[in-house]
Amino acid sequence: MSSSSANKVPVVVFDSPQAAAKALAAEFSELIRSRASEGKTAVLGLATGSTPLPFYAELIRLHKEEELSFQNVVTFNLDEYAGLPREHKESYWHFMHSNLFDHVDILAENIHLPSGTVTEAEIPTHCAEYEQAIVDAGGLDFQILGIGRTGHIGFNEPGSPKNSLTRAIELDQITREDAAPAFDGIENVPTSAITMGCGTILTARKIVLMAWGENKAAIVKEAVQGPVNDIVSASFLQEHDDARFFLDTPAASAL
Ligand code: GLP
Repeated sequence: MSSSSANKVPVVVFDSPQAAAKALAAEFSELIRSRASEGKTAVLGLATGSTPLPFYAELIRLHKEEELSFQNVVTFNLDEYAGLPREHKESYWHFMHSNLFDHVDILAENIHLPSGTVTEAEIPTHCAEYEQAIVDAGGLDFQILGIGRTGHIGFNEPGSPKNSLTRAIELDQITREDAAPAFDGIENVPTSAITMGCGTILTARKIVLMAWGENKAAIVKEAVQGPVNDIVSASFLQEHDDARFFLDTPAASAL
């Protein structure tokens, strides 16, 4: 754990993203295996972006080399861009399949992501059904998160209330600028998304937020040491009783 007394949420600093990913994957593996031995499911909340990639690579390695099965795993992703069909190369559906699901033995019916193609009229029902599906699955056992430069978790941009639920949200300009290279220009970046709310995320029994690199150091400091408010939605994690930040040394450099 980081020793800074100014930290208002537990922080663990690792030598590299790979080391952090390995430690986190070991926790997931233990949860999945212990639930499997009881004949139960493990309900995992998953995230996209470049941050979780070493974690997904380690889960795939555990599946291929250490017989970790995903047959009892149920997943719920945080978010999806509005307007993107599943087959779009930047859809989170596509991201999750190419970086994790296609390489492990998870059952297709156990995978959940918000839809990018529901009509505007269908969005409220779709979001309510997503919330209900999480409840019906038994709730989120373990949620992983990245952090955007606006301090968002999922796509809970500044102004997202602590008790917000799954809903449509307009993307912040900074978020769209960060996504622009992947979309070959900001004009191609969707303007809105469907995201789990802060309240949805905070129902998870265990949460780990990962962040790597110096360009996350300033927002990590705000989330870990700053006031709890809706300007930085990651600050709500300070009020969760089992949330931790897994950082590499550069991401922890401002603490
Ligand atoms: C997007 C995602 C977030 C992610 C963030 C940071 O906005 N919706 O879940 O945490 O990007 O992305 P990266 O991990 O690439 O820095």
